[in-house]
Amino acid sequence: MPDPTPITESAVAEAADAAVAAIASSTTMAELRAARVTHVAEYSPLALFNAQLGSVPAADRAATGKLVGQARAAVSRASVAREGDLAVAEERTRLAAEAVDVTAVGTRWRPGARHPLTLLMERMSDIFVAMGWEIAEGPELENEWFNFDSLNMDEDHPARSEQDTFFVDPIDSHLVLRTQTSPVQIRSLLSRPLPVYVVSPGKVFRKDELDATHTPVFHQIEGIAIDRGLTMANLRGTLEHLARAMFGVEAQIRLRPNYFPFTEPSAEMDVWQPNAKGGARWVEWGGCGMVNPNVLRAAGIDPDDYQGFAFGMGIERTLQFRNDMNDMRDMVEGDIRFSQQFGMVV
Ligand code: DAH
Repeated sequence: MPDPTPITESAVAEAADAAVAAIASSTTMAELRAARVTHVAEYSPLALFNAQLGSVPAADRAATGKLVGQARAAVSRASVAREGDLAVAEERTRLAAEAVDVTAVGTRWRPGARHPLTLLMERMSDIFVAMGWEIAEGPELENEWFNFDSLNMDEDHPARSEQDTFFVDPIDSHLVLRTQTSPVQIRSLLSRPLPVYVVSPGKVFRKDELDATHTPVFHQIEGIAIDRGLTMANLRGTLEHLARAMFGVEAQIRLRPNYFPFTEPSAEMDVWQPNAKGGARWVEWGGCGMVNPNVLRAAGIDPDDYQGFAFGMGIERTLQFRNDMNDMRDMVEGDIRFSQQFGMVV
């Protein structure tokens, strides 16, 4: 240990001045703490003077003690005062940094919306569920046999051409993107005990260009009822109920003869839309008919024992004429503003 600095008035004043200057120039609590370590704490010049008092000759001790004591008290006052100032300043800085502008415009998250096609499919499905029907789903990547053969559409049916149907490589996989929801008829008949009453909403695919009235990916809802003794009157009554539930109690349907391979007789169904925007009108809505005995046989059902009817309609088309929409492209673009117009009810 080096010889201690003798306690002189000037040495004490110098140490005290250095301490006060360091304290005064500290601008943060951390700097103030550092100044204290150097100038006030153990081994600081003033503390060493204090520790030396015991060895000061008795005659000088009181005066020297007072000298050192006053110096230490002055430094201590400066330190306490500086601490108070810094605390106020730091609090002010913190409050400024945490300030919230309660008048600022916030980021607004717009609520999402379910797609009107989804809502419409669910609404149509619900109408059937209310009558005791079940919902059935089938794969979008479908076996050619389910999509065509089982539905009485043979090899040279025009719909089976490359021009209309998305075939999947390799071609001998016999897989297609289903062109209609009708294959779910067969899947339902093969997987459920009779009688069967099912509707099947879902996506279908055809090689169409996207334009105002076509889209290569669209949706249909299919229905099939197989029971003993079902007739065309049951078909008519069912579709009429659907039409009224969808278009109001004044809605009517009419059936015009048509041809589908999977039904015989077959009909095109029109709906009388009493509340159409430009005035009441007949609109072509979907296909239907009595299930062709060949289809029943493909599902292992004896056509002399069970009969039934089937129908299918396009969801996009339904949304288009029911909600007075001119361009089908709006339905596929995924712009939330389109969906939001419909809210949660279509
Ligand atoms: N599958 C037909 C189509 O895509 C629609 C259809 C017509 C379905 C008559 C049926 C039906 O079940 O009986 O054009």
